[in-house]
This record gives sequence, structure tokens and C-alpha cells, in this order.
Amino acid sequence: MKRVDDFRLRLGSKELVPIMVGGMGVDISTAELSLEAARLGGIGHISDAMVPTVSDRRFNTKYVKNKLQQYKFNVANPDKSVVQFDLGLLAEATALHVGKTMEAKRGDGLVFINCMEKLTMNGPKETLRVRLQAAMDAGIDGITLAAGLHLGSFALIQDHPRFNDVKLGIIVSSLRALQLFLKKNGRTGRLPDYVVVEGPLAGGHLGFGMDWAKYDLATIVAEIRDWLHAEQLDIPLIPAGGIFTGSDAVRFLEMGAGAVQVATRFTVTQECGLPEDVQQEYFKAGEDDIEVNQISPTGYPMRMLKNSPAIGDGIRPNCEAYGYLLDASGNCQYIDAYNREVAAHPEARKVKVWDKTCLCTHMRNFECWTCGQYTYRLKDTTRRNEDGTYRVLSAEHVFHDYQFSTDDRIALPD
Ligand SMILES: Cc1cc2nc3c(=O)[nH]c(=O)nc-3n(C[C@H](O)[C@H](O)[C@H](O)COP(=O)(O)O)c2cc1C
Repeated sequence: MKRVDDFRLRLGSKELVPIMVGGMGVDISTAELSLEAARLGGIGHISDAMVPTVSDRRFNTKYVKNKLQQYKFNVANPDKSVVQFDLGLLAEATALHVGKTMEAKRGDGLVFINCMEKLTMNGPKETLRVRLQAAMDAGIDGITLAAGLHLGSFALIQDHPRFNDVKLGIIVSSLRALQLFLKKNGRTGRLPDYVVVEGPLAGGHLGFGMDWAKYDLATIVAEIRDWLHAEQLDIPLIPAGGIFTGSDAVRFLEMGAGAVQVATRFTVTQECGLPEDVQQEYFKAGEDDIEVNQISPTGYPMRMLKNSPAIGDGIRPNCEAYGYLLDASGNCQYIDAYNREVAAHPEARKVKVWDKTCLCTHMRNFECWTCGQYTYRLKDTTRRNEDGTYRVLSAEHVFHDYQFSTDDRIALPD
């Protein structure tokens, strides 16, 4: 049987190991994780989710504190429309995050940034343009447009000097979404360099409804592959979601995929941003401990561990400090849900909110344990320590296991 290493992904003049580590916000796919993927000849992703917040934690900047200071007067106001991001500071934070990562890059691979359209930041177009341009200015190798349709995103950067040199990819979950994108994007005269096809078993937000279980990644990939072929469009497809072993990856590469995108197996590596106690929760999880729910204020279903502290937590909305999910009119579904519960329980010191969560706060604090469907198999990928905990792996070990394994085997650490 073939192994992943028998294949290569061609992107322009580059030949890469066809393994892409997917973006995991907020700083779960860290610079360190993406740099390991690049060092090993593949592609890694950093994430552009909540970059000012991430920058504060990593580089001791004070973006969050200063923004909260500026808008403190508005904390008790349910109308958040005044809470705006300073675009100059947003560019500065992105430049810091991306620039420091790219400075540290070694090896033949690439580092991309995962950019979510649903991070509307009370100014969808303006903030997205700044984030994309600042990442390009700071030397990012590529941008994967995620979570949202991104119908106008290429146009936002088409005047940038790097527009034709930076690798640009989109994530879709159906042929229809891809067709729509290509139609609307036609005016820019630029095709995506790759298309990630994300199936229903992925982590993070899903591009499906609550009927996600009816869909199957291989079927969607075959449909998109055949359509691209008929249209004579040569764009590498990169399937994602539930590709757990090297052999799973080989099956997609043999059906014509250019590479695979994987994430869940890297959540339990030292380079991943999740704290180790959270990684142990991922290892311990059984199949019944994982659910797809609708608590994300983005409106997309999201997969997570059922014991995530974010579920049911009724924290006061933190938009003055964060505010990454505020839409163009300063609304967020969590604010409405929270205010409804406060009004219904005026005497309560703290309310419970079950239908939505304050995703900014909980992703920032690693309390929303989003994960792929096969998280329950992570315990089979490592050994146990004497105290019963599971041994956290190195990203290199997991990457090489994907690259070299055959016959559905998973290599355990030495
Ligand atoms: C913890 C976690 C966080 C994720 N966050 C994001 C994200 O911020 N943006 C995104 O486009 N995809 C996100 N994803 C999806 C992954 O990038 C990837 O496409 C998918 O999980 C691959 O499937 P797998 O996890 O079964 O390997 C996330 C996945 C996980 C496991």
C-alpha cells in the first residue's frame, strides 16, 4: 500500500509533503505548531482569530486592556455599536503575530493564516481587509479563507502588490458553495490556488446544518473533483474532516486530492496551544462525550466536548474587551440570549445561558473544547504515563505518522 510520502502537493513552483495542519483558533494552532509543519515540508496554519488578544498573551502588548479602558462606559449597555476596533492597531497586532512567525520559519514548507469571515468585528469589510493586507505585508505564505462564504474577500485585496504571489485558498463544504464563490469572484480574474473541502466530521464550525450526519466527505470531494475536471479547472483539492491515519489520507490522495488537511490529531501535541489539562480531556473523551450543538453565536453548528465549561455559562458579554463576533450593527446572538436570561431572573447573581455562548471569552480562555468527531480515538495514538494520564505527543511524531504509516496503523511514541 502507498503512503502519504509517495505523493506531493504542487503549489506554483513549490513541491510539498501533502499534509496541511488546519487553522485552529484561538491560538490552538500556534506559531510553533505551524512552524513544525513547515519545517517538515508540509503546510501549517496560524489563525487570525482574536489576534490582538493573542498578541497580548504572547508579546505583552496591551490591546485588550486599552480597548476595554476606551469603552468601559459602555459595559452595561446592550447596544455595542460604538465598540469599534482601531484599524491601525489591528494591523499592528497582525503584523506582530505574522511577522514573528515568518521570521522563525525554517525548512521547505509553508505557513498560512486561517482567516474567518464570520469574525465580523463590528465592521466586517474594513476589519477583514486590514487583517488580510497586514498578513500579506508581514510576509505570510498563504491565506485560507474560512467560516463564511468570502464572496467578496479576494476583491478586498486585489490591489495589494502580493495579490498574485500569495497563495489563496478557500474552505467549502459543498460544490454549490464553490460554484457560488467562483462566480462571484470571477471579476478579480484570479482563481484560488487550492480548495479545502471540509466534511461533516471536522472540528470547529461546520459548513452543514444539524443534518450534518447525512453527508460524507468522500462523496463531496468526488463531486467537486468531477465538476472541476469537466470545467477544465486545475485547482488542487484538499479534503478535511475525520482523516485520522496516513492510510485515510492515502485514500483521498489516490482519488485525486492534492493534499489533506488535518487538525484533531495535532490537538494533543506539545506545540498546540491547548493547556495540558484540556489536552487530557481530549484524550479521555469517549464517542458519547462529543456533540454538535448550536451555541456558537455565528449561527454555524459547532462540534465540541460536552463537558466544555463554555456550555451553559452565563458570563456577562465581554464585547468592550473582545467584540470579535459583533456584526455590522454591533449585535451578537449571545448578547440577546444573555439579556433575556437576566430579565427572566432579576434576582440571580449569575445566570445560566444554554442556547448561546460568549465564544470570544471562552475560546480565549480555552473553555470551549471544540474538536473533530474522531477525538475519541486520540487515546489510541499514545501511551499512558504512570499516573494514568496520557502522554502528549510531539507535532513531528504525529506529522511523520501521517507521512509514513501504512495499513491504517498508528505509530505510538517511543
Ligand atoms: C480545536 C479545533 C479548532 C478549529 N478551529 C478552526 C478555525 O478556527 N477555523 C477553521 O477554519 N477551522 C477550524 N478547525 C477545523 C480544522 O482546521 C480542520 O479543517 C478540521 O478539523 C480537520 O478535521 P480533523 O480535525 O478531523 O482532522 C478547528 C478544528 C479543531 C480540532
